[in-house]
Amino acid sequence: MRTYSIVLIGFGNVGQGLAQILAERSQELAERFGVEYKITAVCDLLKGSVFDPAGLSPAALLQAAAQGQPLSSLPAAHTGWDAQRTLQECGADILCEMSYTDLKTGQPAINHVETALKAGMHVVTTNKGPIALDYPRLAALAQERGLELGVEGTVMSGTPALRLGSELLAGAGIRKIQGIFNGTTNYILTRMAAGDSYTAALAEAQRLGFAEADPTGDVEGFDAAGKVVILANLLMGAHITMQDVDRQGITALTPTDIEQAESQGQRWKLIGSLEKKDDRLTASVQPTRVAHSHPLAGVSGATNAITYTTDLLGDVTLIGPGAGRLETGYALLEDMLAIHRRQSN
Ligand code: HSE
Repeated sequence: MRTYSIVLIGFGNVGQGLAQILAERSQELAERFGVEYKITAVCDLLKGSVFDPAGLSPAALLQAAAQGQPLSSLPAAHTGWDAQRTLQECGADILCEMSYTDLKTGQPAINHVETALKAGMHVVTTNKGPIALDYPRLAALAQERGLELGVEGTVMSGTPALRLGSELLAGAGIRKIQGIFNGTTNYILTRMAAGDSYTAALAEAQRLGFAEADPTGDVEGFDAAGKVVILANLLMGAHITMQDVDRQGITALTPTDIEQAESQGQRWKLIGSLEKKDDRLTASVQPTRVAHSHPLAGVSGATNAITYTTDLLGDVTLIGPGAGRLETGYALLEDMLAIHRRQSN
């Protein structure tokens, strides 16, 4: 059995999703993969922090979070350390980075990732900020040290969109990527097409845990644009930034626009797109009317989809969850198991 000690920075929906998965599936992970993930530290800006090299009970962490108790109220060797001190002194194997980070600065997640790598820890993250804004530098830092930087959860939560593109389709010649990359807006558009109001649909997306802490990032298309940047730079050899994405959100769409499209056999979707033509890459996030018969028209709710257009296989489409507590928590497990596989080889 290989035991990895892990630190969780951020204990909101995603951190709690991961804790729940570990609480419920530790036996299966041990039996099938010979691996154990021991949470030794958790730091959250609002909930406080707790560190115990002997391990913390995922169930006790979840209970404290559910009851609104500070994490420092749990029995542990140390409480009250900030994220930086925890990362420098905890000696864990893997950082799971899930802090609240905006897409303008990528902080504090960039600092967390950097400190963890310099302290010799592998990093897995669902945080788009550091990956959309600073991936080449952070990936180089990891590589220099022989460490892994797992980023599957930054696009389409636990649905393995990046792994499909970076591993399985890597030799097929990806020349175009198109998809639905934001669960909140897809949920809102689906509900509006069924007659609900924008406000009620957004409130429900927040309640269900799809929306970002500040949903402006979702509805104005910044979240989807961050994912388009990540896809371009990781899979298409590009070096683009958020400013290179021609971005528009869904806030200008009215119920009349939506009704009109439906009556003409079309549906509004927020489509992220990347296309290589004559060595030039165009990147966009735009509300787009697609025919009911289009494969993306049937993708509803918080579900996301990605179509890779390749030289050798034509179109390959993957549809799956794009947001949610367990769905995003699972992305971290996926990356941690990939680390385990590589370590075991
Ligand atoms: N707020 C994002 C969404 C979460 O709605 O898709 C996943 O990145």
